[in-house]
Amino acid sequence: MNDISDIPPNPDAKPKVVGEQNPKRRRIITGEGAKAHVHEKFERVKTARKRSPQSARWLERQLNDPYVKLAKAEGWRSRAAYKLLELNEAHHFLKKGAIVLDLGVAPGSWAQVAVKKGAARIVGVDLLPVSPIEGVILVEGDFMEESIQAQLLAHLGSKPNLIMSDMAANTVGHKQTDHIRTINLAQMATDFAIGHLDKGGTFIAKVFQGGSEGQMLTRLKQNFKTVKHVKPKASRSDSVELYLLAMGKKS
Ligand SMILES: C[S@@+](CC[C@H](N)C(=O)[O-])C[C@H]1O[C@@H](n2cnc3c(N)ncnc32)[C@H](O)[C@@H]1O
Repeated sequence: MNDISDIPPNPDAKPKVVGEQNPKRRRIITGEGAKAHVHEKFERVKTARKRSPQSARWLERQLNDPYVKLAKAEGWRSRAAYKLLELNEAHHFLKKGAIVLDLGVAPGSWAQVAVKKGAARIVGVDLLPVSPIEGVILVEGDFMEESIQAQLLAHLGSKPNLIMSDMAANTVGHKQTDHIRTINLAQMATDFAIGHLDKGGTFIAKVFQGGSEGQMLTRLKQNFKTVKHVKPKASRSDSVELYLLAMGKKS
């Protein structure tokens, strides 16, 4: 892994992650200057009586994750913002005036990024409630349900230029089951994108490495000019998560 990686902390600045190999020394420097420097001090979390070792490990990772700190400092609702910013920096799919559908919108950082990039209409759906985001129409419900999909189409008003799915099923800890459940979500999002995305549009979907997505890939390749797997640096290297990026919808 490189010591220095360029991941935009916000749409206008390029940060550098320094000393990634050693979490005690790692810090992120952003183009916004000294006010946005995040100097890290590694924080240990004791396993309290009510906290399982697993949740203590999760909390420790959150407390020491430079993207979590930076997201807090820069007003993004979650570290996931940096994944989308980085993908967009490389592939330029978030266009001013675009109509965007955000699947699995909670807590809302991807939608915040779409707002910042000047999307004209953004509709987001999640099983979870999301606190309001100016410029975003939020639907609470299950994307897998036809009635919810109909609501999304009605809110969009016309064909979206970008459909982005960061949906992930709640993990149950059984690797294969978790993969299948997330791939099912991605497959449904793929069907929806093929059916409703505007010509020339872009589709992004979270998948898992090792997931059984062969059929999905074939369909995407038939319907889009380019299809690739991408893993942003902001996606944790120990996570099996990666994204399918399909660009240039053919019709
Ligand atoms: C990783 S989070 C998304 C983070 C989001 N992109 C952001 O930047 O804030 C995944 C979300 O997918 C949602 N989700 C999972 N299954 C869903 C479904 N069937 N319908 C709608 N949302 C779903 C979860 O509730 C969760 O909030």
